[in-house]
Amino acid sequence: MENSPVLVAPSLLAANFLELGKDVEMVNRSEADWFHLDVMDGRFVPNISYGLPVIAQIKKKARKPCDVHLMIEEPEKYAADFKKAGADILTVHIEACVHLHRNIQQIKGLGMKAGVALNPHTPVGWLENVIRDIDVVLIMSVNPGFGGQTFIEQTYHKIKQLRQLINDSNAHALIEVDGGVGPENAALLVKAGANVLVAGSAIFSSADPEKTIISLKTGAQ
Ligand code: DX5
Ligand code: ZN
Repeated sequence: MENSPVLVAPSLLAANFLELGKDVEMVNRSEADWFHLDVMDGRFVPNISYGLPVIAQIKKKARKPCDVHLMIEEPEKYAADFKKAGADILTVHIEACVHLHRNIQQIKGLGMKAGVALNPHTPVGWLENVIRDIDVVLIMSVNPGFGGQTFIEQTYHKIKQLRQLINDSNAHALIEVDGGVGPENAALLVKAGANVLVAGSAIFSSADPEKTIISLKTGAQ
């Protein structure tokens, strides 16, 4: 796993919503691997983003998998709707799931890859009993809710702990890191054990987004 190439997932939260089609085409053209789509409900996180109709439109143009990050309470109520809208990977927050095992089975039963996200304060050990059932673990490296925040340095330690847990459990989950990721920390994150790098502002605020995506993939600054 450590030797496989790093995947890059641009977060469209930082895209230009008036020209969303253009930004979707840029990701299609680029070396990026997934579309990262952030859904916020104003309850689990103190912000509201976009939802099902927007994702359904993105899906019509997207030529890469749609990685949907649900920052919402009661995600089980909407899993089937997100499948319908075009989610290929559906990630729920462990802090929002009372019956996490059931939620994971539901997502996989609907034909999607199952992801579980961890807030910065949430211990990696909470995943011990489900790690073999998960396709992706999303480590939040900022507090969820907003783009453009500062990367939390403790994340490196968490990634290493998670890599150890995955290896010890003979699990296959990919480690995805989300928040404050850019060319300046990409190489270190991959070295710690990350497989997927999510980046919003680093990509969409850069003068040359396609070049920034390549920098994230190669670890070049
Ligand atoms: C934050 C979202 C992120 C966000 C990352 O809650 O989950 O995906 O878009 O934005 P940057 O890369 O700007 O920190
Ligand atoms: Zn996200």
